[in-house]
Amino acid sequence: MLDVKETIFDYWSRWAPNFDTTASHVKHSAAWRDVFRAAVPYPPRRRCLDLGTGTGACALALAAIGHDVTGLDGAAGMLGQARQAAADQGVAVSFVEGDVDAPPFPDASFDVVSARNLFWTLPDPDRTMREVVRLLRPGGIFLLSDGLWRTDTTPPAASSHDMTDYAQVGHELPYYRGLTSEHAHALLGFHGFTGWTHWEQLFAVHPYAHQSAGACPFFVVTAVRPPD
Ligand SMILES: C[S@@+](CC[C@H](N)C(=O)[O-])C[C@H]1O[C@@H](n2cnc3c(N)ncnc32)[C@H](O)[C@@H]1O
Repeated sequence: MLDVKETIFDYWSRWAPNFDTTASHVKHSAAWRDVFRAAVPYPPRRRCLDLGTGTGACALALAAIGHDVTGLDGAAGMLGQARQAAADQGVAVSFVEGDVDAPPFPDASFDVVSARNLFWTLPDPDRTMREVVRLLRPGGIFLLSDGLWRTDTTPPAASSHDMTDYAQVGHELPYYRGLTSEHAHALLGFHGFTGWTHWEQLFAVHPYAHQSAGACPFFVVTAVRPPD
């Protein structure tokens, strides 16, 4: 039987060298930086953790704004690309290899936790949410962004890369098709977050227009971790 996380980390490590040349959220990095600037204003300088950081696009954007950023990912290949990108851009980010379900950081050690396009590929999103709550200080901000990536009618050819590995573990992933903002609100509410604010309307151009025949709903939402 396939180990789900091993399969996922291997997949992303293999895909890593091509990720930044095809991922639309990397191509739209200037627009994303504007969204991060609005959602996580600087000053003050905040301690940020980017979960499932991949090639570090969000981590680098947050660091370029002025924040103190750590990026966590389980795929060594993705982190290799992230470290190279940080060096190329002259931006300081601490990239750490590890599982978002067992992050090697103390309680309440971050002001901001972000997760873009991570939750669709998690086997136990509630477990990950409990870690988000643990890692954030009371009053800290969680930024969650994702989309509804696949529908029953999406032909496999619509994917920009080979998803064969995922097809084998997809049944283990509750949000394999993706998340809507309603899913996000349910997760955030269940884990005690309040005061959510949406940011996707700041995009002049839909960053995922190629997905699902151009109709992929996506969201960027921030919410506040309540006091203990
Ligand atoms: C679709 S990519 C998104 C990368 C990045 N957040 C972005 O928006 O460009 C998903 C990333 O999540 C990572 N990932 C998936 N499950 C993980 C887990 N349990 N622990 C750590 N990283 C994980 C993968 O290795 C991959 O780099």
